[in-house]
Amino acid sequence: MSESELSGLSGQPETVSGTGEDAGAADGAAASGPTRAARHVGVEPILSVRDLTKYYPLSSGVIRHTVGHVKAVDGISFDLFPGETLGIVGESGCGKSTLGRLLVSLERPTSGSIVFEGRDITDLKGSAMRRLRRDIQIVFQDPYTSLDPRKTVGDIIGEPFKIHPAVVPSGKRQARVKELLDLVGLNPEHINRYPHEFSGGQRQRIGIARGIALNPKVLVCDEPVSALDVSVQAQVVNLLVRLQKELDLAYVFIAHDLSVVRHISDRVGVMYLGKFMEMGDEDQIYDRSTHPYTQALMSAVPVPDPQARDKRELIVLQGDVPSPANPPSGCRFHTRCWRAQPACAEQDPELVPREDGAGGHDSACLFAELFSKASEEITEADQIG
Ligand SMILES: Nc1ncnc2c1ncn2[C@@H]1O[C@H](COP(=O)(O)OP(=O)(O)OP(=O)(O)O)[C@@H](O)[C@H]1O
Ligand code: SF4
Ligand SMILES: [Mg+2]
Repeated sequence: MSESELSGLSGQPETVSGTGEDAGAADGAAASGPTRAARHVGVEPILSVRDLTKYYPLSSGVIRHTVGHVKAVDGISFDLFPGETLGIVGESGCGKSTLGRLLVSLERPTSGSIVFEGRDITDLKGSAMRRLRRDIQIVFQDPYTSLDPRKTVGDIIGEPFKIHPAVVPSGKRQARVKELLDLVGLNPEHINRYPHEFSGGQRQRIGIARGIALNPKVLVCDEPVSALDVSVQAQVVNLLVRLQKELDLAYVFIAHDLSVVRHISDRVGVMYLGKFMEMGDEDQIYDRSTHPYTQALMSAVPVPDPQARDKRELIVLQGDVPSPANPPSGCRFHTRCWRAQPACAEQDPELVPREDGAGGHDSACLFAELFSKASEEITEADQIG
């Protein structure tokens, strides 16, 4: 994807070239033509997550006894392939950041497993954990608070080398920091400046430089552009795309904005109340979504083409997101789903391949097959209640 292709970031998303060169045969569940997911056939995932949960205890009373749990992440499974970008979208509070923190071992899961390059890393401790931290790094959302204002940029970017001294010998660290500044498009001569001397976009570049300092293989980007102006968002997304190619990084890219996610992602997972509702490649999620929640999110994405815009109806979800401490029975989206049927309150649908009108892809809707049409075609007349 060229820089010019990304210039209209908030507009109609462009098609992104896949990161894998070896476009293999489409797998059974794939749409016509080799999908991005199909390019991974025969390739070992770099990261495999299975049934991951994170429950935070809720305590009450003077002696603070546990009265329940916030189920922030409640049974997440996915594979991430080398050089791939998996986008993760969902409303505020659905567990995206918690998932990100679990992946980089900033938090321990309640249950489930995380396998990195074939090795179970779920319960690593001590030096094994520190070694792992080199390979899976994170870039945080807020470039204003994630950088220590009392430290120079050189100290901030060079900080990981203090924890992992073997990566760059002490005599060569300054040169390496300058190299990193250059790599993320900042002036290496500004190594002794402080964060407040940089703009928001430049600060996020500093955060990215820190994230890639240890040559990781996986970078978790938690809303890396959400706090930035749209034009600056495009520059930072372009930077991430370029770095991915140059450094062969795999990204887990967390964001609210579906347009941004579409630009950068090979596959997208849509989260709701700690679970994936749907997962697929760009066409599957953006053009052939089968899950009403995804369709509702999609209906709110701005479309620059006036004709396409006129045909579309905004699907406004009723009610608030239920508490993750007490998710609804059955399909956890049923309290807000305009398609809900009586069975939806009883059965918890699995995230499995379901027919989407052109093959199939993973969806956790009991009635996915019935709703397998382009989100643009959904009209108010379709709405049941
Ligand atoms: N340390 C914690 N202790 C208790 N509850 C927590 C903790 N961290 C997160 N939560 C809860 O877990 C749920 C998921 O939070 P999380 O920050 O992962 O959501 P998110 O999808 O990243 O939201 P946002 O889009 O606003 O960043 C929320 O209900 C949140 O209040
Ligand atoms: S299973 Fe039922 S409630 Fe859940 S998304 Fe599908 S139709 Fe809606
Ligand atoms: Mg978050």
